[in-house]
Amino acid sequence: MHCLFVGAGAIATEYAADLADGPLTLAGVCDLDAERAATLADEYGCPSFSDLDAALEDIDAPLVVNLTSHAAHGPVTSTALEAGRHVYSQKPLALNASVAGDLLELARERNLALGCAPGTPDAPTQRRAGRLLADGRLGPVQLGYAYAHVGRVTDWHDRPDSFLDIGPLYDGGVYPLALLVAWFGPVASVRTADALDSWPDRVDQRPTAPSHVEAMLAFSSGPTVRLTASLYTPHRSREFYGLELHGDDGSLYLDGTGAMTDSPDAVRYGRVGREYVGAPAQYPTRRYRYLDPVESLAHSVDAGRPSRATGRRGAHVVAVCNAIERAAETGGPVDVADHGAAADPVSAPTVGRRGVGNGTDNERPHSLRLPPIGVGCSRYREGEYVERRDSIATALDAGYRLLDSAELYGNEHRIGELLAAPGSPDRESLFVIGKPWRTNHHREHLIEACRGSLDELGLDAFDCYALHWPEAWAHRGPLARLAEQPVGQQEALTFPEGEDGDIVTVDIPLKQAWKALETVHERGLAHTLGVCNVSRAQLETVLDAGRVRPALVQIERHPYQPRSDLVAFCHERGIRVVAHSPLSAPGLLEEPVLTEIGDSQGLTPAGVVLAWNVTQGVVPIPSSTTPAHIVGNLGAAGERLDTETCARIDGLRRPGFER
Ligand SMILES: NC(=O)c1ccc[n+]([C@@H]2O[C@H](COP(=O)([O-])OP(=O)(O)OC[C@H]3O[C@@H](n4cnc5c(N)ncnc54)[C@H](OP(=O)(O)O)[C@@H]3O)[C@@H](O)[C@H]2O)c1
Repeated sequence: MHCLFVGAGAIATEYAADLADGPLTLAGVCDLDAERAATLADEYGCPSFSDLDAALEDIDAPLVVNLTSHAAHGPVTSTALEAGRHVYSQKPLALNASVAGDLLELARERNLALGCAPGTPDAPTQRRAGRLLADGRLGPVQLGYAYAHVGRVTDWHDRPDSFLDIGPLYDGGVYPLALLVAWFGPVASVRTADALDSWPDRVDQRPTAPSHVEAMLAFSSGPTVRLTASLYTPHRSREFYGLELHGDDGSLYLDGTGAMTDSPDAVRYGRVGREYVGAPAQYPTRRYRYLDPVESLAHSVDAGRPSRATGRRGAHVVAVCNAIERAAETGGPVDVADHGAAADPVSAPTVGRRGVGNGTDNERPHSLRLPPIGVGCSRYREGEYVERRDSIATALDAGYRLLDSAELYGNEHRIGELLAAPGSPDRESLFVIGKPWRTNHHREHLIEACRGSLDELGLDAFDCYALHWPEAWAHRGPLARLAEQPVGQQEALTFPEGEDGDIVTVDIPLKQAWKALETVHERGLAHTLGVCNVSRAQLETVLDAGRVRPALVQIERHPYQPRSDLVAFCHERGIRVVAHSPLSAPGLLEEPVLTEIGDSQGLTPAGVVLAWNVTQGVVPIPSSTTPAHIVGNLGAAGERLDTETCARIDGLRRPGFER
């Protein structure tokens, strides 16, 4: 779609820089400064203008991108709408709520699209924070603190006048305001506000509007947020565009409401009573571009549904800014016009049981949709038992959604307590794997084991219940709350030794154990079934014998032992592969090739191994008791390696590897 840029300053250059990658073409540039317009237009081979009416007359572009200075936004948008053009405007939509309302009305009457910056509520970091909120991790949100420390524009902007005339609200304040309105819907009233004229005496050029504003905003959906917007507070202060929200069950910290690039630490979650934990992206993200919201506006026009959603939000944000100014004069409260700003629903989590084939009747199931990485819940560490309660809580807080639990790990009751605690993810957003121990392969024991594990976890059903091992051992009693028993007793129950000291096996063939597992599925205690530590031949036995197909296979997998044939065999059949013990093979994390690759990709050697698994469609389930490792491992799941890098890692393979 052709577009006309009106305004050719610094921000126009930023918008133009992304034109080459998208569907928009620059058909003309208009700026009161004819030279500036010509410079930008020449670069893109289009005509330039210093008169808006002439530009609209000459250029047949359906979309005007309004990149003028703040005070010109309203008049330019009005002229463009009057000329029948769709408009995307830089922030703010106007400086006055009634002007903004008129623009919306005009766009509505003529069925034209009207968009307004900032589009950053849709940027990757903000969406990640929004998902945390939508997941209900904070519980009801009652309070928030938002900052917009625009800083001393006289120091950092080549044309500060426009900022000094309007103050910090209409430029910086709109970032947190647009995001909060996207999340919580409209502000009902400004409870109180105050404004100051703080400015250094030695700087001659002074703001004509108040340089510092504080306001308490009451959102109609519940939260009260204190907003601080300042030209006085330096933009390098500790708080820049930070936002902190507090709910009954947890808190959220977002370090940049207007951020366009993602950083792993930009979103942090603090479950009530616990430290903040980084919640990194676990899916690949891309840089947010200034042109993204303009392109989606153009798309809405192409689709015959010209959107005014961000225009409505922009108009409401202007109304909030006006109300803050009035409240600062009168002391408040001041009601705020809605302008149709409704909360954009924040998308639901993408993990869980969506796409789960129930696998009955041996038809080819759809592959399970799993999170890219999970957390291993085992207590075992080089022959020792370690307490995992805290580290599993940290993993849940950071955003892990796949839990690998097992009867043998003996800590299902502790995981259950964590899942029941305020601030834990909803059941629907989790994928929980359970595993009966090999002393429970007899049908009755298996059902009892499954029910016992579910009781301890506080769940109705597992997302996947997987045989821990294909071979059966002698039953020595139930394994409930194993972690609470003396170590000797735990071992006697789980590693049944005969008088000769050898493990006592029992003759329950894999086929029979699988049939017993199918009963668990039939009774609704597991949505899908799986099997761990199998060879390809054993998996074929299950596939041939069973009525319910395995949806998941869990094997030890790392670069020393990639099990490529088995992985390919599973993937061809829609069976997901989960890699257990992905990091703990002796010497693996010291491999120079992993360090080298990691250095070039900003990853640790562990991160490289995890990204290698994820790139190949395998879900690693590392375990860690070190908070930085827990968060870093999750972040590595958002990385993808190219084919050449994967091949270098494949080169570490050690045929016949054994621990
Ligand atoms: N189905 C089965 O038969 C089976 C068998 C074994 C394991 N599993 C599952 O797989 C899970 C993981 O296996 P695992 O516990 O044996 O081993 P693992 O995850 O491969 O390795 C754990 C070790 O790696 C370290 N580590 C983790 N992240 C690291 C990082 N970023 N940098 C450096 N070191 C890091 C941990 O130390 P820190 O604590 O200091 O981070 C710990 O020493 C288990 O919890 C269990 O759920 C299943």
